[in-house]
Amino acid sequence: MTRQATQVGIVGAGPAGLLLGHLLHLNGIDSVIVEDRSREHVIDRVRAGVLEQGTVDLMAAMGVGGGVEHAGLRHAGLYISFLGQRHRIDLTELTGGKAITVYGQNEVVRDLIDARTATGRPLYFETEDVGVAELDSTEPVIRFRHGGSAHELRCDFIAGCDGFHGVCRPSIPSGALTVYEREYPFGWLGILAEAAPSSDELVYTLHERGFALFSMRSPKVTRLYLQVPPDEPIEQWSDDAIWDEMLRRMTTRDGWKPNIGRITQKSVTPMRSFVAAPMRHGRLFLAGDAAHIVPPTGAKGLNLAASDVLVLARALKGFYERGSSDWLNEYSDTCLRRVWKAQRFSWWMTSTLHRSPDETAFDHQRQIADLDYLTSSCAAMTSLAEQYVGLPMEVSFESAGLPAGG
Ligand code: APR
Ligand code: PHB
Repeated sequence: MTRQATQVGIVGAGPAGLLLGHLLHLNGIDSVIVEDRSREHVIDRVRAGVLEQGTVDLMAAMGVGGGVEHAGLRHAGLYISFLGQRHRIDLTELTGGKAITVYGQNEVVRDLIDARTATGRPLYFETEDVGVAELDSTEPVIRFRHGGSAHELRCDFIAGCDGFHGVCRPSIPSGALTVYEREYPFGWLGILAEAAPSSDELVYTLHERGFALFSMRSPKVTRLYLQVPPDEPIEQWSDDAIWDEMLRRMTTRDGWKPNIGRITQKSVTPMRSFVAAPMRHGRLFLAGDAAHIVPPTGAKGLNLAASDVLVLARALKGFYERGSSDWLNEYSDTCLRRVWKAQRFSWWMTSTLHRSPDETAFDHQRQIADLDYLTSSCAAMTSLAEQYVGLPMEVSFESAGLPAGG
């Protein structure tokens, strides 16, 4: 048995765990990160890829923004398409200069693993049997196996950054959490294709046959999504069938459509909205997908993970520097204010742009009117724009020990 101690034990090396580890490092706080998958798996996993302005600024302020700055695609606007017509929303003009940046989550994770490695602080991949215990004590523990031997990691605090299917949230006694949940009667079939993006900006489409989304990863790679039933077997979709349906839904009357190319990755993901509250139990703090899931339509998942850990870093800094638990006690409420606004936005984007199996003709006409209003009213476009580029973080960068910017 290997026994170790650290200040903050972090379960999970996704965006939440890695960003938190680096924020703590910048504040001179020790951490150990414990991840159950391999480095390659974590880096290769294809996920979403839209960074809010605040997430880009946060990564820059943390000194881990080099990759985003170099290879991220900054978008000043997006398109909403319905009834065969694309309508542009100018995010930058409507938000006083803000934008979103398309940069794959796997690239974010790769950059953060490199930054972690450069600090020399511990990050264990391919751990097994990870468990957390003694959460109500002042010395909670993470137990795991690594390289064939048992490890016990004593911590002052544990950060549960282990995603929706992790072990931390289920370790909280069920009576202590309230779960708010909504499942959608559809999922997204997503592909990566070797094709130059035919638009510089994202296109969200509501078509009679359902939702479709045009996105990209690089000047040579297009990322596309289609609304499908939530349990749709991906094997039922040949590459030709995927392209037929993409083109049917996305082609607009002026002839715009995505470029076709070799499909290199395809998968189906169900969609849900989920919040577990409070995001804390004793000395265990949940952050990111471990505490909440949003449907991908608002592109908020990774960005919420980033805003959670900024709040957590501030709280831990306050504890170690001033011996104050005030910010730790406020952690959950502070995060949940922003989480719920992102939940509401993601639900609204999702329900406005998808076709539900149980919808009525009235519902569909209301959706069209919603989109017509959205794309013709400056007030409505401004509301979408300020939420899409990201509502303000709840705490300042300085309060978490970073240079100004938040
Ligand atoms: N022990 C250790 N690590 C675990 C365990 C476990 N029992 N269970 C899960 N993990 C790891 C996963 O392998 C993953 O690397 O925790 C990490 C969680 O990362 P994410 O799922 O990426 O969650 P998070 O860091 O909160 O980031 C949120 O990820 O799911 C996307 O779209 C979502 O963009 C959002 C972002
Ligand atoms: C993506 O590029 O993967 C993407 C873009 C916008 C979304 C969701 C996913 O809303």
